[in-house]
Formats: sequence, structure tokens, C-alpha cells
Amino acid sequence: MFSGAGSLYLALLLAWTPSSPVISAPLARSLDATLLGLLQLTGKPKLTFDEQGKFKVVSFSDMHMGEGENVVWGPQQDVNTSIVHAHVLDNERPRFVVFNGDLVTGENTFKHNATKYLDKVFAPTVARGIPFSSTYGNDNINHQEELEYEQEHYGKTLSYTRSDVGPKPYGLGNYWLPVYATPTAPIPAAIMWFFDSRSFTSGDGNGPGPVPAAADYYWVDETTVPPYIEQQSELMQRVWGKTPPALVFVHIPVQKAQILATLPTKGDHDDEPDPAAQGFTLNGTYTGLDLPFWNALIKLNNGPYGGNVLAVTSGHDHGESWCARSTVSVGIPVCFDGHSGYGGYVTEHSVVRNGRVFELDLVDLEGQVPVVKTWNSYEDYTTDDDVVLGPDYLPGYNNN
Ligand SMILES: *[C@@H]1O[C@H](CO)[C@@H](O)[C@H](O)[C@H]1NC(C)=O
Ligand SMILES: *[C@@H]1O[C@H](CO)[C@@H](O)[C@H](O)[C@H]1NC(C)=O
Ligand SMILES: *[C@@H]1O[C@H](CO)[C@@H](O)[C@H](O)[C@H]1NC(C)=O
Repeated sequence: MFSGAGSLYLALLLAWTPSSPVISAPLARSLDATLLGLLQLTGKPKLTFDEQGKFKVVSFSDMHMGEGENVVWGPQQDVNTSIVHAHVLDNERPRFVVFNGDLVTGENTFKHNATKYLDKVFAPTVARGIPFSSTYGNDNINHQEELEYEQEHYGKTLSYTRSDVGPKPYGLGNYWLPVYATPTAPIPAAIMWFFDSRSFTSGDGNGPGPVPAAADYYWVDETTVPPYIEQQSELMQRVWGKTPPALVFVHIPVQKAQILATLPTKGDHDDEPDPAAQGFTLNGTYTGLDLPFWNALIKLNNGPYGGNVLAVTSGHDHGESWCARSTVSVGIPVCFDGHSGYGGYVTEHSVVRNGRVFELDLVDLEGQVPVVKTWNSYEDYTTDDDVVLGPDYLPGYNNN
């Protein structure tokens, strides 16, 4: 039933162009339907702040489940990852969980059942009844297969993962979700955006291991995603009268993260992002291929629609768990999630695994400039690196 309505809304959306004259109230209802983030709300609860006016999200990156599945330590490692998630979830009691990429190891799982590992990734979150969504990583698993598996098995219950735009079978995981102050609030208090940064391992498509050439891009698709962000944020402004403040989740960091890594920030710096490894270089020269996406985020933050990007958080570099901002990032905070899995490589300071917590507070969002609290939360029930991300964070770098 819903897919038919969805295509109608999509047709309406595609017929709409940013150059259309601004039309207010009477058309707002039909335009409302073109806000793709509202589609998942049919049949599923709205995401809402709690009674204290808070919405806490835990972002788990780099689980790499399924590594070494046919040797003794492999399954034990996956058990360990589930314990990490269980401890962090019990300590933090979040209202939402994001699996921010590299959920399943891509290097050495069997192709025929790789998506089965998603059950293990989600299990501690599902056992606690917490809604969640995913971005997919450079883990060499076909993103379309991951999405279809996740939607088939969890889409009617706890998973809010969707695909609005982007190339298949990689790069399709671009979407947003609204979070409301209360179940009856007409306009969301915050938005969570999710982007698909694809894979950086090329191959011939005959896995396990090698992946199709279609995956051989490791930045958010520069043709479909920027117009999508612009179109949706302009619709938010027209329908709701504002673009709500936003958290952004994307597995592979943007190149700006490398420049920000030199700033004095709390958190691990074991594994500073390297554009050569991130894949933004060609023969030693930065290509700028991630800039259309980044520029679309800047426009979301500073543009005519009045939005505000509270933070852009990534995984991928397991030994990075800091947040930074400066004029390099146009003041947008860029964060790393650290390492929540026992799968994948380990660095000196990331031995105790963690998730990154974001706590949205209605009071903080309603200020002149919205801010968000964030910290790292560990498997041993400790937390650290608390900061409030906003103009007062690293103020010395507001001008350089
Ligand atoms: C599982 O976690 C324990 C405790 O952190 C650790 O001693 C053990 O080596 C881990 N096992 C694997 C296979 O990662
Ligand atoms: C996938 O299949 C392999 C054998 O082909 C098996 O060893 C492994 O346990 C399976 N994994 C899952 C998650 O079912
Ligand atoms: C990059 O370098 C390789 C090997 O040095 C060369 O074959 C290729 O043509 C270069 N590509 C570009 C776009 O310059």
C-alpha cells in the first residue's frame, strides 16, 4: 500500500523545482507529503524527545561482525562486540541508535550469508526495543542487499533505515529522519541525516572479497545527494517555516577532517585521517570529489533556509574519537565515533571499545544558536571527552 503512495509523493517531489514561486499555507499540505523523511512515519511511532526534553542517540561504528567466522576467535570476537553494545546501551539508555558503517566485515565473510550478520549487529539494540537506523560502510558488502535485508527483517518494527536517492547497489543509503518534541508536535525539533559514503575497494564483483566496480567510489555521490539535500531543506523551510537543527551521520569522513585533526581536542588521535587512504586523492593530489556533499552541508548550515548542522560524525578511522571545528569546516563540528566492535584493526588507545553519544536537549536547541552535548561511552561503563558543540567550542579557531 505504502509504496504506491511513496511513488506518487516522489513524482510530486520530482515535479517540484527550486525555482517554483514560493507558495504558502494552502499548498503546504501537499508539499508536506514530499518531505521524504515523513514517509516512514506511516505505521511506525514518531521519534520523540523524552519527558525531560532530551533525545539521546548512541552512534556505533565499525563493528566488523563476521570477521574470522571459521576460526575460533572469530565468533568470540562477535560476542565481545555484542557485550560492548549491551554495556553502552544499559549505561546510556538512548532513545535511538545509529549503526554508522562497517557493520559487517567485508574482507572475509561468505557472500551467500553475509547479511545474516546484521542480526548479530542489531541484537543488543533489538533486545532493548530501541529504534535504530544504519549507514553502510566500505565493508565490501553490497549496500542494496544490506538495506533489503534490514528492511525485510526490521523495517516493520525498529529499523528506520530508508533510501531516498543515490546509485544502486552502492551509494543508495541517503535519507533523513525527523525527531519531535512530543508525539503531537506538528514540526520536528531536530533532523537526523544519513549519507552513504560507499566503498573504496574495487574488484570484479565475484566476491567474497572483491566487489563490483560500482562500489569503487568512496565519497557521498556528488550528483544525486547535493540536490537532494537542497530540495529537502528548502521544502522544510516552506512547509514548516524552518529547517530544524541537524545531526549528520556518514561512515567515511570528509577530507576536512584531516585538517581539523591537528587541533587540540579531547579524544583519541591514533589514526589521523589520511586523504590517500580515505580515497580522496588521485596520484597524490586531492580530487575534491567529496566537496559537493560538504558544500551542500555548508549550505544547509549557513544557507537561506536557516538550518544548523550540530555535528557531522563518522567512523572508519578506528583510532579517532574527537570532535573539532574551525573556519576550515565553516564552524561545523566534525566528530569521530571511535570503535565499537572487536572486529577490525585496533589502535593503542582504542582497546577499550566505545560508542559516541549525542544528547539533544530542547532547551539547547531553542537557544539563539543551537548546540549539542556529546561524549564517548565505553564498554567498561566509563565515559569521557564530554564537550558542548557550538560556537563556544574551540572558539580560538573561529577565525583561523
Ligand atoms: C574478548 O574480550 C575480552 C575482554 O576484553 C578479551 O580479553 C578477549 O581477548 C576478547 N576476545 C576476542 C576474540 O576478541
Ligand atoms: C555463513 O555460512 C558459513 C558456512 O558457509 C558458516 O560457517 C557461518 O557460520 C554462516 N554465518 C552466519 C551468520 O550464518
Ligand atoms: C596516475 O598514475 C598512474 C601510474 O603512475 C598512471 O598510469 C595514471 O594515468 C595516472 N592517472 C592520472 C589521472 O593522472
